[in-house]
Amino acid sequence: MTNTMIPEITLNDGNRIPAVGFGTYKLKGNEGVSAIESAINHGYRLLDSAYNYENEGTVGEAIPRTSVPREQLQITSKLPGRYHNYKDAVTTVQESLYRANLDYYDIYLIHWPNPNRELYVEAWQALIDAKKWGLIRTIGVCNFLPEHLTKLEKETGVLPAINQIELHPFFNQEEQRKWHGEHGIVTESWSPLARANDVFEHETLKKIAEKHNKTVSQVVLRWHYQLGAVAIPKSANPTRQLENISIFDFSLDADDMQTIASFTRPDGRLKGQDPAVYEEF
Ligand SMILES: NC(=O)c1ccc[n+]([C@@H]2O[C@H](COP(=O)([O-])OP(=O)(O)OC[C@H]3O[C@@H](n4cnc5c(N)ncnc54)[C@H](OP(=O)(O)O)[C@@H]3O)[C@@H](O)[C@H]2O)c1
Repeated sequence: MTNTMIPEITLNDGNRIPAVGFGTYKLKGNEGVSAIESAINHGYRLLDSAYNYENEGTVGEAIPRTSVPREQLQITSKLPGRYHNYKDAVTTVQESLYRANLDYYDIYLIHWPNPNRELYVEAWQALIDAKKWGLIRTIGVCNFLPEHLTKLEKETGVLPAINQIELHPFFNQEEQRKWHGEHGIVTESWSPLARANDVFEHETLKKIAEKHNKTVSQVVLRWHYQLGAVAIPKSANPTRQLENISIFDFSLDADDMQTIASFTRPDGRLKGQDPAVYEEF
């Protein structure tokens, strides 16, 4: 199946990415390969993996099992916190490429800022250089607060093209999204379906879904799209994979958008992972 239904958006480096991608956390081994192969066949072109998901090889294995040419896919991986120093970061990008059997990544992100270690600028410099060497097309970050992004720009002159952050109806990141918009950074939403916690049974979301003759998942993913955020829902199930990209034939109205925004809570993060203090290695 060819993908003509997912619109694209332009990044600050001129590259274009699909407005919805596919999350791969927990997709590993034979089952993971099948799920990713199915996602590509259903029309996903942006795939999100990470060194720490231990599934770059799974993604790399799925790609040639489809008939979609490599250049039509956008493959993402991420640099773990334990490899932020410059030399380790460069080696890790190379190792990620070997694992996936790729000769370039479309997108490579710093996974967490781990600000207490004060090494994320070094990691960023390594990604800037890896991009110059042709190992990566687009560089970005995850979970960076405005203060971390400002530091990257001040010390290297380069702002990320993408910041992938926790974003779902219970944590809508209004201020961070506004900051991204003002600085030309595209927001990607991780756990866009709140990892299936309290979303699909939510009475108000069910009502909005009924009104549009859509599923709750489609309403939530459409909400991300209308916010201008690139959601990367994960599903191991082919039917749900297709459902999650079938969101471009309806619109939420201003009331729907406002109602969904009202579900946000200061403590709405799924696991309380505040990037100012949370560390992941
Ligand atoms: N940068 C970071 O720090 C970070 C952190 C977390 C996640 N991520 C990325 O973000 C991606 C997405 O986040 P996530 O995997 O945490 O959670 P998610 O995409 O919000 O939710 C996935 C869960 O929702 C279920 N689901 C998906 N579509 C559904 C549908 N249409 N109807 C009912 N259930 C549905 C899935 O079950 P089935 O598989 O059974 O369908 C799974 O249990 C990850 O896979 C990863 O690539 C990044």
